[in-house]
Amino acid sequence: MASDTLTVTDNRTGNSFELEINDGTVRAMDFRQMKASDDDFGLMTYDPAYTNTAACRSGVTYLDGEGGVLRYGGYPIEQLAEHSTFPEVAYLLYHGELPSASALESWNAELKSAAIVDPSIKAIISSFNRDAHPMGMLQAVVAALGTLHPESKEFTPEGELRDSIALIAKTATVGAWAYRHNTGQELLDPDPDLSYAANLLYMMFGDKDVDPRLEKALDVLLILHADHEQNCSTTAMRGVGSSDADAFASASSAIGALYGPLHGGANEAVLGVLNRIGTKDKVEGFVEKVKNREELLMGFGHRVYKNYDPRATIIKAAADDVFEVTGVNPLLEVAKALEATALEDDFFVSRKLYPNVDFYSGLIYEALGIPTEMFTVMFAVGRMPGWAAQWREMRNDKEQKIARPRQVYVGPDERDYAGVDAR
Ligand code: SDX
Repeated sequence: MASDTLTVTDNRTGNSFELEINDGTVRAMDFRQMKASDDDFGLMTYDPAYTNTAACRSGVTYLDGEGGVLRYGGYPIEQLAEHSTFPEVAYLLYHGELPSASALESWNAELKSAAIVDPSIKAIISSFNRDAHPMGMLQAVVAALGTLHPESKEFTPEGELRDSIALIAKTATVGAWAYRHNTGQELLDPDPDLSYAANLLYMMFGDKDVDPRLEKALDVLLILHADHEQNCSTTAMRGVGSSDADAFASASSAIGALYGPLHGGANEAVLGVLNRIGTKDKVEGFVEKVKNREELLMGFGHRVYKNYDPRATIIKAAADDVFEVTGVNPLLEVAKALEATALEDDFFVSRKLYPNVDFYSGLIYEALGIPTEMFTVMFAVGRMPGWAAQWREMRNDKEQKIARPRQVYVGPDERDYAGVDAR
């Protein structure tokens, strides 16, 4: 069998180089030795948006975009959604193993006590305008939490675990507070007698009597959003964390990246699209606008999945369970008609555009009584364990240093300053 190497001939010099192939990659730095002349900097690889660049080795999550496969720590997402709970999945992502009964009990206890947030944060939440977007509040307040934890600047295994638990637990509390602030209601502290999902609904709606089918549906949604390897917001978490910024500052940057409508903000945008379409008979007209590049079909397409997002399949099924309790959301029919039309249209099929995690999730959130501007907050609450696990992995990866890509300079050559009269 041929050796796992790449032979590269630089035709500018006739020199040949043998590059090692490891895990399907070659090291970008190996190209630096390829120089056209002695004073040459050497070659770099050029990969805008990192579409074909592995920036790390990670054991947290496995994605197969062609096959539509998603596994956390080797466990298929379908099995975790059916049998596990969000706190247990958070443990798996961080520790790489499912917990024993006693480990899960103490993990849950730590999450419950960490869910309490310092009252000073209530004053910050209350200082925002009533119509402030909850994601803007969440990003600001998670960074503010870091100012209450100066110890988070000392990096130890215990400290990384402590700060990760704090982020996972407190994001639900402050996310719910953002909603209560927007709706002019008293900010509620978590109730340790409730599950993570039930507590999130209680802190938002003030009702501890949560239908177990709705509690399970939210828990499944949180599990499905918990991690997704090197997506845009995780890249922000790792990149900011690589400067030795603390976990709270890094998580605040990840929330900022998730806020964008091309990423986590898509779930909010999907409801906007469905409401604008309104009824099934308007679907064809909207699809034509997409094909004419006047619109994006939000909730469709993915950088990695060139197949149906496995999370969308599970969410679509979970929606039926929720609607048994809440009644069917009329927009579900519009969504199903939109999906069916797109999946039969070559514009989408040829580009391998399928529903992603955001296409149906908003319909469940809306059925739970959650307003659209809170959808991406729910995504952030779900993704926090993944961000924490990836941040911790980056901090303990001996190959990682401060993230600092290079560039190809395309600006003007050196020129002399000229006073304003000479311009
Ligand atoms: C998430 O990375 C992750 O894992 C993210 C995520 C996670 O869990 O962290 O899975 C969560 O962010 C899911 C994606 C949510 N975003 C949306 O639903 C927004 C709509 N989708 C698109 O913006 C787009 O599909 C992206 C951003 C998701 C992916 O874009 P890519 O990989 O950069 O693909 P592209 O823009 O190069 O598109 C390829 C072609 C283009 O057409 P051509 O120029 O080749 O003719 O497909 C078209 C695009 O115009 N296209 C779409 C489209 N998505 C891609 N056309 C219409 N509607 C769309 N949604």
